[in-house]
Order: sequence, then C-alpha cells, then structure tokens
Amino acid sequence: MDSDDYLLHFKGYNFERSLVRSDLLENLEDFEIRDDDVFIITYPKSGTIWTQQILSLIYFEEHRKQTQKMDTIERAPFLEYNIRTTNYINRPSPRLFSSHLPYYLVPNGLKNKKAKIVYVYRNPKDVMTSFFHFSNLVVKFESADNMQSYMNTFLDGKVVGSIWFDHVKGWYDNRQKFNILFMSYEEMKKDLKSAVQKICKFLGKELSEDDLDAVVKQATFKNMKSDPRANYNDVLKYELGTRNDNGHFLRKGTIGDWKNHFTVEQSERFDKIFQKKMKDVNLKFIWDINEE
Ligand code: A3P
Repeated sequence: MDSDDYLLHFKGYNFERSLVRSDLLENLEDFEIRDDDVFIITYPKSGTIWTQQILSLIYFEEHRKQTQKMDTIERAPFLEYNIRTTNYINRPSPRLFSSHLPYYLVPNGLKNKKAKIVYVYRNPKDVMTSFFHFSNLVVKFESADNMQSYMNTFLDGKVVGSIWFDHVKGWYDNRQKFNILFMSYEEMKKDLKSAVQKICKFLGKELSEDDLDAVVKQATFKNMKSDPRANYNDVLKYELGTRNDNGHFLRKGTIGDWKNHFTVEQSERFDKIFQKKMKDVNLKFIWDINEE
C-alpha cells in the first residue's frame, strides 16, 4: 500500500481516508460549538485514548463508578472521525470531543475562548516509535519496513496527522486564540494524580479525594489495558482491523522506548531537526524517565 492510498489530503493536512466523510470536513469550520464543550486535541500516538479515559472519568459519575458501560470513544468521540456515527447535535452538554485536527481546521466557535481544549503532546521520538508499531498493526495504515525508512516517512509527514512539528508548533503559536491547557504525556506518566488535578482545575471540576483516587486508579496503564470501555480493543478489531491479534493500542505506555529503536545517528539527526524547528516553543519535553 502507498501512503496516497490511505491518506486523504485536505487543506494541507492528512486524514485517514476511509474514516472521514468529506461533507463533514467541508463543514468543520462552521460546526456549532457550545460554551461548555471540551476538546481533547492531540497529534496521533500522544496519549489520546488515555486522555479520553481521564476526562470520561472526571465528567461522568456513571463511568467512574462503572454503573454504565459505554466506550470512551463514545463518551469523547472524534470530531473528524465519527466512527460510531454519534449524533453530535443531540448530545447533552457538556459534550466531550477528541480530535487530531491542526489549529487552523478546528471549528471557528472554539475561538470564542469559552469552550476548553486539553492539548496533550509527547516527545516526538516516542510518538514516532509508537506510530511505527501502530502502522505495522493496523490494516488501514501503510506498514513500515524499518525505523530508518519510517523516520523519513514520519519527518516528511506522510502519515495521519501530517508533520508532528507543524501540529505542536501550530497549536503552541496560536494558543492565545483558544482556551487551552498544554499537558505532556510524560508529566501524566510521572505523576498521574497531579496531572489529573491540573486538568480538573482547568476544567473547573472539583472532585472529592475518593473520586480523584478512582479517576487515577482507572487511568493507569495496567487498569486501562484490561478495561474494555477504554482499551480500544473493539475499535481495533471491528473498526480499524489488525494484521495480527497480539497488538494493542495500549502497547507499552512508557517514556523513552525510542532508545530501544533509534540508532545514535538517527537520534542525532532527529535532535538537530527538533532543535531547529522547536527553538521558539516554550514547552517542556521529557525524553527519558530519569530526567527531572
Ligand atoms: P505506546 O505505543 O508507546 O505504548 P494514542 O491514544 O494517542 O493513539 O496514543 C497511544 C499511546 O498512548 C500508546 O503508546 C499507549 O500505550 C499510550 N497509552 C495509552 N493509555 C496509557 C496509559 N494509561 N498510560 C500510559 N500510556 C498510555
């Protein structure tokens, strides 16, 4: 499969062709936003389904207490990939949405700065590593032979989500236009409870100590992996399709797995590009679990 077979290029950005509807894309800018809408926005493989679980647990008592079984993809559906054909207009407030959209394609209503955006980013070497494995797992994606060739594909943006640098820098440079909180995957990983507290503060949600603990407990890698509402096993099986049965969305869930995949030369090449492209971006990046 060639990248052009599965990528839909629309206004300078790559979508997964079979999962989007072009009429929806054409009307994205005018999609009506409510003041209490909350968006999770990410570049792919940066912690999207993790954040879907966290926000579902924060917002819905029935999710936190497990009294209602509903998948997180339905609690926080993707705006541009309406995989379960949810009726967005009829959904009760507050609505949660997920999206991989770049800043310039999101609905204009988000610029009234009332609706909130939680933007989760991750160090791009781990994003690339995660994407590499994911591309070899999901039938709909172009498979990758090796890291060397995949690095070129990734850096050229011939993937869903286009160029990682453009996505993160674009959102960062335009942050004043939105009501947005930047969270890193790594800060969530290193101290999940503090990360959840930070997210709650931004969302104006006050949880009791017990509820906070319940959120944190159900959002750990281990517990999410065995939680059918949150592990995306069904999405992989029925909506995306896999090349083998051993792969999961929750693959490893660590910081620094790139070290097991990058050669020193590849890492140095990546560093050079990162330093050049991200020099004005004042976001903290953590590349190694032992880093302070
Ligand atoms: P790895 O492939 O490195 O394991 P996305 O949801 O944006 O597609 O991101 C998927 C990545 O997030 C995967 O990374 C997955 O394991 C990781 N992830 C999902 N839930 C997690 C959790 N609770 N804790 C840590 N990592 C998690």
